[in-house]
Amino acid sequence: MASKKVLIIGAGYIGWNILDLLVQENYVVTGFVRRKEHGEQIKASGASEVVYGDLSDTAKITGLTVAHDIVFHAATADHLPSVEAILDGIRQRADTGLSTIYIHTSGTALTLDDARGAFKSDKVYHDNVASEIDSVSDGAPHRQVDVPIVKARKQLGAKAKIAIMIPPTIYGINPKHGRLSMQLPTLARFAIKHGFSGYVGDGLSVHSNIHVLDIARAYVVLLHHLESTPSDDAMLLHNPYYFCETSGDNEPSWKEIAAVIGDSLHKAGVISDPTPRTIPGDAYGDIYGAETDVFFGMNSRTRAVRLRALGWAPVEKDWKASFAEDELPLILKQGI
Ligand SMILES: NC(=O)c1ccc[n+]([C@@H]2O[C@H](COP(=O)([O-])OP(=O)(O)OC[C@H]3O[C@@H](n4cnc5c(N)ncnc54)[C@H](OP(=O)(O)O)[C@@H]3O)[C@@H](O)[C@H]2O)c1
Repeated sequence: MASKKVLIIGAGYIGWNILDLLVQENYVVTGFVRRKEHGEQIKASGASEVVYGDLSDTAKITGLTVAHDIVFHAATADHLPSVEAILDGIRQRADTGLSTIYIHTSGTALTLDDARGAFKSDKVYHDNVASEIDSVSDGAPHRQVDVPIVKARKQLGAKAKIAIMIPPTIYGINPKHGRLSMQLPTLARFAIKHGFSGYVGDGLSVHSNIHVLDIARAYVVLLHHLESTPSDDAMLLHNPYYFCETSGDNEPSWKEIAAVIGDSLHKAGVISDPTPRTIPGDAYGDIYGAETDVFFGMNSRTRAVRLRALGWAPVEKDWKASFAEDELPLILKQGI
């Protein structure tokens, strides 16, 4: 049988690791990227084809979707036109009797509360209960993209297999890629700039997390599950959501995270005092960027019930070891 053709839109920190695993499994992978250097990097990782473009090139994305059996979107959780372009391509394939697997990347920001560091929430979201996720407001982060996907999915029914991966805080690096995540590096850069490691409010709120290599494996486990499950399977049709976390009931608080960052930077001789402190409001501009906007200080507790039931389990080092041994050296090398 001919190898299946996979399109990865956004082969970045997450997507490049998915690409590596799929190439190892002999999928024929096309990478959609916007920079020449990045295109050359993923070509060296085994991408069969590199297509250059921007997410706003919707006709190109629809055409590419039509030509691929499987699509991953891992460029951003917030770009509706590129998602609609994929869904158009999936509909065109369905009209000619071709099924498509589409795994979209969302984010657990959709579960955030407004704790601002004041407390640890009791609210835990489980991905085997779709109604828990659907109960968040349509105005919650990423829902302006996820809700249209869910609607399109209902219309397509058994003609396509569409899933939404919802990652929490991702940590860790792939040393071959040299790419960093968002949350811990942002807090580390804040500490380097201000001379102390910080948290919002009292830092008591907690967040689920996962190593980037563990979540890349989870995407592949999910892909295999979708490939092997009949398209009219009731659970597949009913619930599109998959969380992925390694932290279980041990989610670290933002204060614990700040303590590890402070300690690691102190040991590295970068800051003189390891003690974490509250970030003053007038310094919020250094942690709240476009992507990380509402993350810091809020609770988000999620459980990967479905992936664990499929046999997936995290195997990589935890966030503390990963930060001290892998991420911090790369952050210091890349500079702030
Ligand atoms: N990392 C996390 O902790 C995390 C957690 C939850 C959810 N997410 C969601 O997952 C998404 C991907 O995360 P990531 O950490 O893998 O980010 P990333 O490393 O920045 O990867 C995104 C990739 O998409 C490409 N891209 C972005 N905008 C594009 C555009 N307009 N046109 C073409 N290509 C574009 C980027 O290209 P360049 O290489 O040229 O920048 C990059 O290669 C995030 O945006 C977020 O919504 C991430």
